[in-house]
Amino acid sequence: MGMLESNKAMNGKRFVANLVVIAVAAAWAGAASAKNGINDQLQMSELNKHNAINDGRGYAADNWAYKGGSYYEQNFSALTQVNDRNVNRLGLSWALDLNGVDGVSATPIVIDGVIYVSLPGSIVYAVTANTGKVLWKFEPKVDASHGFSSSWTRRINRGIAVHDGKVYVGTADCKLIALNSKNGEITWSSSVCDPTKEHGIAGAPLVVKGRVYIGSGVSDFGAVGHLSAFDANNGKELWKFFTVPNAPDSHTKSKAMDIASKTWSEGYAKDGGAAVWGSIVYDPDFDTVYFGTDSASSINPEVRSPGGGDTLYTNSILAVDAKTGEYKWHYQAVPRDAWDYNANMPIMLADIDFDGVKKKVLMQAPKSGFFYVVDRSNGKLISADNFVPVSWASHYDLDTGRPVELPGARYYQNSDGKALVYPGVWGGHNWQPMSMSPVTGLVYFSAWNLSTLYATDNKAVLGGVLTDTYSSGTSPKDVKGRGSLIAWDPVQKMARWKIPQDLPINGGTLSTAGNLVFHGTATGLLNAYSAENGQLLWSKKTGSAIHAAPVSYNVDGKQVILAAVGAPAMARNSLPAYSVGENARGATRLMAFVLDGKARVPETKVREHDKVAPPNIPSTKEALKQGEELYIRGSCWLCHGPHADSIGGSIPSLTRSPILQSKEAWYEVVVKGAKQNNGMIGQGDFSPEDAELLRAYVADKARGQFNSKK
Ligand code: HEC
Repeated sequence: MGMLESNKAMNGKRFVANLVVIAVAAAWAGAASAKNGINDQLQMSELNKHNAINDGRGYAADNWAYKGGSYYEQNFSALTQVNDRNVNRLGLSWALDLNGVDGVSATPIVIDGVIYVSLPGSIVYAVTANTGKVLWKFEPKVDASHGFSSSWTRRINRGIAVHDGKVYVGTADCKLIALNSKNGEITWSSSVCDPTKEHGIAGAPLVVKGRVYIGSGVSDFGAVGHLSAFDANNGKELWKFFTVPNAPDSHTKSKAMDIASKTWSEGYAKDGGAAVWGSIVYDPDFDTVYFGTDSASSINPEVRSPGGGDTLYTNSILAVDAKTGEYKWHYQAVPRDAWDYNANMPIMLADIDFDGVKKKVLMQAPKSGFFYVVDRSNGKLISADNFVPVSWASHYDLDTGRPVELPGARYYQNSDGKALVYPGVWGGHNWQPMSMSPVTGLVYFSAWNLSTLYATDNKAVLGGVLTDTYSSGTSPKDVKGRGSLIAWDPVQKMARWKIPQDLPINGGTLSTAGNLVFHGTATGLLNAYSAENGQLLWSKKTGSAIHAAPVSYNVDGKQVILAAVGAPAMARNSLPAYSVGENARGATRLMAFVLDGKARVPETKVREHDKVAPPNIPSTKEALKQGEELYIRGSCWLCHGPHADSIGGSIPSLTRSPILQSKEAWYEVVVKGAKQNNGMIGQGDFSPEDAELLRAYVADKARGQFNSKK
């Protein structure tokens, strides 16, 4: 494990990051006084000449107008009314339960006294920022029948964009919809992708200068990645940038595809890949849009590009001209990826002083477990250092920008075709927003230390590689101590402080000029730490697991810390450790905290399993094993969980399902697709015998669960 434990210890290097503006740092001493507070200091700074709502350059203050607070996506609030000295007085002002049992991943947006937030199913709420009253609710009809991707993205929504009287939201059936922000009525609706080709939208659009940018995802089932730009006023598509050459002749069409097609052994991506399902960021300094890409649908590179090739632009950050979509540069962090190390994770922009040399950088802590700092003027790697134990690469060669891989990690080259690799397919960090304080110069994010056993068995659908993902992270005992909140110093290239968490996968972060970092946990706590040293200053039970990032705004002279709580069903189902206890099954709600808030946290009504006695289907050990293989091959685990007992929102438990009682009803649903419209994709290639083997396997599990305490 020597290499695994190679995380750098604090070694007495200079403590204060070069980024810190001395005047701002000094202001902490006077943070309690409004006059000399950091807010004033920041307002004097160059950045804050611009109000965040006007052009997104400054820091968020009264409003939280952009998903990441501002264009730079630092999730930083310049407000200081709530600070490290009085945060212990923080109390609930109001809470609002949202109509959804699938949790919430989106960062809320707050403009001029109105909160906008999206839920799975592309449901959008507008809520008063001072009292938490619903102004309007938008609930589109979303057709989830097209394939796995539409079913998957139907249950996740990572946010919206709001600008100039319109709210923009994407849907699982590939629409980009513009709503009137006053009443939630549809202004226009445009088609972004083809849901019959494994596309669906779960990511947040970005709106800048009259253009809306949106991607679609995921690539696990074969989607061909792209970023599209639409006219914000009328929904007309302006351009589309494809992220992989998706036809034999596509390299003839552009410089970008010319570069990419040389990196696929057959000249193009026959199974698609590189979906743009996460981060899309605008850089006002270069009038550039950056976005991250997914891996390919076969994560075994010998399948997608036999014999070699980096398979561009999978697992990359791309830079394109904001106006024309023309290719500028790319940085591929994981060439010829074999482990599903997507680069869709949050991209953050900053201007950092490295020992006297100012650089405009972007930063990302994606699944690969390395924290990347990239020069955004040219896409050159400045540094890459691991923030969790990593067993696939020892370090990066900064001259080539490429990882130096460790032997044995490429499972398909091993004699048994297997390898246990850190991080695993959940990554070292995922889509959860990270924040940065310009005062400390530190970047704050959730991280986790989970592995995956990769193997070349082509039965499982996740990229054609059978992983033990369906069984890892399933017991709270296994995952205890594997999560953390990290404060990363991009100049010193190490974690300045690190706070262990009970469960691995926790929420996004917010940092504030009051020397605070807010962080929600999978155990349902909203915590506030000192941004400077990680001391826990305040903690509140919310009654629900948290994955989204909190935000801050000012209404009626009060600084509000707003948390969207409720874990997404997909996380609960694929990682059932999160289904333990009341928090994981708690409400989906908005909670607004202010100084001296006196409201009580509403009671959590825990969703219980129905108690249906499972059928007794006689079976042999051998048959049960075949049933399990079908359960994995059919990807059932992905949505219904490894134990088939999902309780996550719209996905029913199979072990308690009345449908399990009937051979005919089971066949209709599982093979014929009787519930396809709601995202239960029929397994058309399964025989009636397969269906029955599956039913016997699930019934066997059901009996075990029924006889246990649950
Ligand atoms: C992409 C996600 C997804 C996958 C993969 C998936 N399911 Fe489902 N399944 C669903 C959803 C969503 C529903 C609920 C549909 C509804 O609301 O009517 C469902 C419902 C069901 C039901 C009906 C349960 C009830 O009580 O109504 C059965 C049975 C079922 N699934 C079995 C399976 C089996 C067996 C597999 C593997 C072959 C599988 N599912 C794979 C998403 C999925």
